Amino acid sequence: MTIDTCKFSGQRVIVRVDFNVPLDENGNITDDTRIRGALPTLKKIHEDGGKLIIMSHMGRPKKNPDPKFSLRQIVGRVSELLGAKVDFCDDCQKAKPQVDAMKDGDVLLLENLRFYEEETGKPRGEFANDDEKAAAKKALKPRQQEFTKTLASYADIYVNDAFGTAHRAHCSNVGVTKYIKTCVVGYLMQKEINFLGNAVNNPERPFVAILGGAKVADKLNVINNLLEKCDTLIIGGGMAFTFLKAKGYEIGASLVDDEKID
Ligand code: 3PG
Repeated sequence: MTIDTCKFSGQRVIVRVDFNVPLDENGNITDDTRIRGALPTLKKIHEDGGKLIIMSHMGRPKKNPDPKFSLRQIVGRVSELLGAKVDFCDDCQKAKPQVDAMKDGDVLLLENLRFYEEETGKPRGEFANDDEKAAAKKALKPRQQEFTKTLASYADIYVNDAFGTAHRAHCSNVGVTKYIKTCVVGYLMQKEINFLGNAVNNPERPFVAILGGAKVADKLNVINNLLEKCDTLIIGGGMAFTFLKAKGYEIGASLVDDEKID
């Protein structure tokens, strides 16, 4: 189901976005593409008069709280782009009083979900590249269940627009769907699903795919799948250096994932 099937007016709507944006050493956003990517969804809910609760992770924090990974740093930009006042809750597990006080059209951003290790179900900062599909099928651990139920208790409708995090079997994008009756995808997710469904499975040829990003480990499966479908695959971004090093080039101090060289 997509968000066009919902009526948001008067409803508490929790949206999982991927606001894991890059920040400089002063906490300034250096690229707000991910915030802009979720805007059509956020605007629709806000303009329809829903009570908009936004949740996201940022980075891979190892403690709670860690100001370096606080979503407080992005409140101003979200508010500016959305054209609305955005309140902040500095503990995603203790947002109930703020949520209960929300009026139609209010917007609340929750603090980094990963300040709680329950979100991922793994010790903080640990990101073994496990099989997320198998993980999604596994029952949540008891502490994860509590965490999930608390997030779910904030809302009547759940919207997932966190495409960049869709491969993670975490509480905020898989767990909550067990506890909220109405779960839909946002416009960004819908756009990407359409792209992956149509453009990848039934492409116009020649079909050229360009992949960027920093993390090679996450993308190897995508690359393997695309290799069977596309005519040309172009690899750029931070992960290109791992490939260059594997081919014997000098890469200086550039980003590299030495474990994936082979
Ligand atoms: C990303 O930046 O790739 C996404 O936000 C997911 O982050 P993660 O790899 O830390 O889960």
